[in-house]
Amino acid sequence: MKFWHVCIACGKTTDFHLKQNECTCGRTLELEYDLEFAGQTFTKDALKNRAADMWRYKELLPIENPQNVVSLGEGWTPLVRMYQEEQNYPVKKLWVKREEQNPTGSFKARGFSAALSIANEYGIKKVAVNSNGNAASALAAYAGYAGMDSYVFLPQDCPGLIVEECLQYGAQTYLVDGLIHNAGKIIEDGESEQNWYNVGTLKEPGRSEGKKTMGLELAEQFNWKLPEVIIYPTGGGSGVIGIWNALNQLKQLGFIEGELPRIVSVQEEGCQPVVDAFENGTMFKAQTENVSSNPTGMRVPNPPDGERIVSIIRESGGSAIAVSKEEIKNAQTSFGKQGISSSPEGAATWAAFTRLTESGWIQSDDEVVLFNTSHAIKYLPWDYGEVPIIENYKDMVSNSAGI
Ligand SMILES: Cc1ncc(COP(=O)(O)O)c(C=O)c1O
Repeated sequence: MKFWHVCIACGKTTDFHLKQNECTCGRTLELEYDLEFAGQTFTKDALKNRAADMWRYKELLPIENPQNVVSLGEGWTPLVRMYQEEQNYPVKKLWVKREEQNPTGSFKARGFSAALSIANEYGIKKVAVNSNGNAASALAAYAGYAGMDSYVFLPQDCPGLIVEECLQYGAQTYLVDGLIHNAGKIIEDGESEQNWYNVGTLKEPGRSEGKKTMGLELAEQFNWKLPEVIIYPTGGGSGVIGIWNALNQLKQLGFIEGELPRIVSVQEEGCQPVVDAFENGTMFKAQTENVSSNPTGMRVPNPPDGERIVSIIRESGGSAIAVSKEEIKNAQTSFGKQGISSSPEGAATWAAFTRLTESGWIQSDDEVVLFNTSHAIKYLPWDYGEVPIIENYKDMVSNSAGI
């Protein structure tokens, strides 16, 4: 066996399984690899001759046959230094990881390339996701490319251009009067009858493995000497989880040494369950009240394993910070003036960075990386026409949008 599941809480291991993403103890199962085997071909030298995409890290991705890989060229995104801003803030070096350069304009491409490659390996033809937007359009694009039928379920205030993307990529597209977890319930209720492969956050093993390549890539782009701080916009948490797992695997492989970066999760004030748990020093609790209507990928009041996100932040010596809508708006302008088109989530990392330098948490000898997870243009107002709003999977009609 080259890879298998391990429970993050009780440590129980089980054979690789498509849907088995929760341990009998209730916590999340993640993947563990035979690193001795992987290390036979996964070497720093071998990487020098590989294609500039995320599949250069194939030994640390759970695909047996490379012919099953579903790839639109994701990964190996630019890491850009912010020279001008380094003059304005007490920081050693400041970098932006330009994840908006991925296919479908967001980091979500990585997760769906991996998830649908697994699905392809097992002959799956029908996939479904609940999403705040970017995950849905990424699923739609990769499913289209792989010849699978895709179903996406989005809160009805999802940015219009992202809904349009889903339609154009050919997904059966449905809106839900509620939040991302309400959309998820529709899939769970219909899963067995509709024969959907549920690719919602942490429902299957691929998405966080694909996102892991952000951490692998960052380490390689830094020539295996990591920055002190990583700032990431957090919703469901698989970005943070993936990066953390990547860095730990590289450490076990002997590619990197010493302290790992401090991980900072940034959320928007209207939905900040990770920040609340971190600040209060408590266990993670879902946010049940006053979730704001701000339709961003950070609006996830009840991520599948919030406790995992908080424990990674704590273990890394990192932090969690909530920023306001106004700070995000200003940050988009600041990024824009430096030539970076940033989504609200990506811009939130800039807002967090400025706050953390002001408070002295980031210091002049720190190298900092901000993850710009998506484009500004995906959030421009757009009229996508008629898309059904449903309450239950049974409300789906055969002439639904996207067919
Ligand atoms: C642009 C963008 N950034 C960040 C996030 C949050 O990522 P994660 O769910 O991995 O925490 C999302 C999720 O939808 C997103 O679309």
